[in-house]
Amino acid sequence: MHPADKAFDYGRAYRERALKSVAFGVSSTPRGRQLPAPIVAKRAEEAHIYDETGAGFVDYALGYGPLILGHSPACVVDAIQNAVQLGLRTASVHTGEAELGELIADTLPCAEQSAFVSSGSEAAHLALRTARAVTGKLPVIKFRCNYHGWFDNIHFANDAQNDGPATIGQNPDAASHMTILDWGDTAGFEAAISSDYAAVILEPIAVNGGCLYPPAGFLEAIRRKTQELGVVLIFDEVITGYRLSVGGAQQVLKVCPDIAVIGKAMGSGMPIGAIAGTKEAMEPIASGRMLHRGTFNGNPISLAASIACINHLRSHAPTIYNDIDAMAADLEDHANACANASGVTASVTRVGSALQIFLGLPKITNLSDTAHIDKQLTARFAAEMLKRNVQIIARGLMYLSSAHTQQDIDLTKDAMTEAFAVLGQ
Ligand SMILES: Cc1ncc(COP(=O)(O)O)c(C=O)c1O
Repeated sequence: MHPADKAFDYGRAYRERALKSVAFGVSSTPRGRQLPAPIVAKRAEEAHIYDETGAGFVDYALGYGPLILGHSPACVVDAIQNAVQLGLRTASVHTGEAELGELIADTLPCAEQSAFVSSGSEAAHLALRTARAVTGKLPVIKFRCNYHGWFDNIHFANDAQNDGPATIGQNPDAASHMTILDWGDTAGFEAAISSDYAAVILEPIAVNGGCLYPPAGFLEAIRRKTQELGVVLIFDEVITGYRLSVGGAQQVLKVCPDIAVIGKAMGSGMPIGAIAGTKEAMEPIASGRMLHRGTFNGNPISLAASIACINHLRSHAPTIYNDIDAMAADLEDHANACANASGVTASVTRVGSALQIFLGLPKITNLSDTAHIDKQLTARFAAEMLKRNVQIIARGLMYLSSAHTQQDIDLTKDAMTEAFAVLGQ
């Protein structure tokens, strides 16, 4: 592989240029903060991205998670190309909608009906609105450090030290009907829940907070109480849906929500999101009582990609999941060994094919521990990996895809050994 130095020079120069005409020089703030400099991607293939200078990187950011089949998998690209030939968009219904709805109903345990949007944030927004419509109530329970997208009424309490809005510019009143609780705290949840609530929304497995499985009995208690009280249970499976298994976290953990929020892996890199739920929970949309709007909802190109991706995952499960989870487990073991050998304090956690490496913290057992991560050191680790032609997400998160090979894993292990050694000096 080309050494990355030239790529960083190019990245710095490009950033100077982009900052003049593009706000913050990027289309999503974290991308502008890549260290030592942003990679300017030109093309991507399998598990690799190549920048404008020709430097190649093994990619574990995978478009922030969606690319479970790697970059541009043939089955998805073919489906997109066929769909493009038929026209980019009409104002009419099309058979792709029912086809994807049927596929989701066949694969996701909670799904009888779906409604499509273009991103995970929109889907979380739609799930909350649907829950409020079906119950006629406003209050919602959300958990600290769970992320459900960037919209005003849910972009709160995204980290352990701040229960407030995640950014300036948000309307703080948008959270006035929101109760924030600690994820995993069953007793705290049982003390707070009542029939006054419209919904409880959570990541059933907290990938965003630190790749943590829920403590025993937590999801079951939430399911039992919400059912008893007529509160809508929403699982945000934007990451776990189609990544952890074809049936998501709900299938693996055997707890079924009323509504699931899905996105990312279902589209294999194309913009898409959806909610999928029981007929009862979806009634406000299904009956037409509640408006579900959006020019790009159900766009045929994204739906074609999603149908191809889910069909591929379904016909290759469980092999595909066993393989990507095994590669992630191999990297998990190696990261732990490197941390021990280098003397760098690290917490390594894994949920299937998602791997989280936090530095400065010996062990993360619940999401409040994330207050003690050394974020700068973790970002430096990501930068040291990038210098060695391996791209991970700056907060220490890595995703595997079916396109990663043993050669990629070997190169990544070497990069990890060196990166930990540098940080341990
Ligand atoms: C669990 C979860 N929900 C919702 C979202 C928002 O999805 P999107 O970025 O597609 O709007 C994300 C994005 O990372 C997520 O991880």
